[in-house]
Amino acid sequence: MLVLGLCGSLRRGSYNRKLLAAAAGGLPAGVELEEWPGLADVPPYSEDVDVVPGADGGEELRGALTLADAVLIATPEYNHSIPGQLKNALDWASRPFPHNALRAKPVAVIGASTSLFGAVWAQAEARKVLSAIGARIIDEELAVPSAHEAFAADGSLRDPELRAALAGIIEQLLEAARAPLAPAA
Ligand code: FNR
Repeated sequence: MLVLGLCGSLRRGSYNRKLLAAAAGGLPAGVELEEWPGLADVPPYSEDVDVVPGADGGEELRGALTLADAVLIATPEYNHSIPGQLKNALDWASRPFPHNALRAKPVAVIGASTSLFGAVWAQAEARKVLSAIGARIIDEELAVPSAHEAFAADGSLRDPELRAALAGIIEQLLEAARAPLAPAA
């Protein structure tokens, strides 16, 4: 089973990328989490370049999402919302709308920020966008505050409650991926 990780931050030392790695560290046998490396190369969405085939980067994102059994998004918060490049990628993913690559796809959203709030507004925004797209969203959020202090040297989350919460979200995500929804009649 393949879980595609999307890191909302393009920053090399991103704490959200660390969070994806921490999630990958606790997966059961037979499940892989791979971060999608192409987010920085997704072009600005425009219907003018969303033709057949769509622009490079956008089409690659759709292909990667289609192949994944589930998606895990780790996002920082920029000005109380999701970073623009992540929103742009979700806009690409949302078309063609009736059978977009995220429709009915199990998706969980987690987030880390250096503030005391752990990107909660960004996570809520991401869920709102995913809901408009038609993804199958895991309701639980994981807010990692003070991200610069949150990780141990081995990459795991220091706080046992956060570790348990992350494991619980991954479990729900995998459970959803193992029980695909019946196609609409
Ligand atoms: C931030 N940051 C931030 N944090 C937060 O909790 N709420 C916010 O609204 C914002 N806004 C914001 C805007 C911009 C433009 C930047 C660059 C940063 C701080 C941010 O959460 C912090 O830098 C994270 O560490 C970024 O995530 P990565 O890159 O570590 O994954």
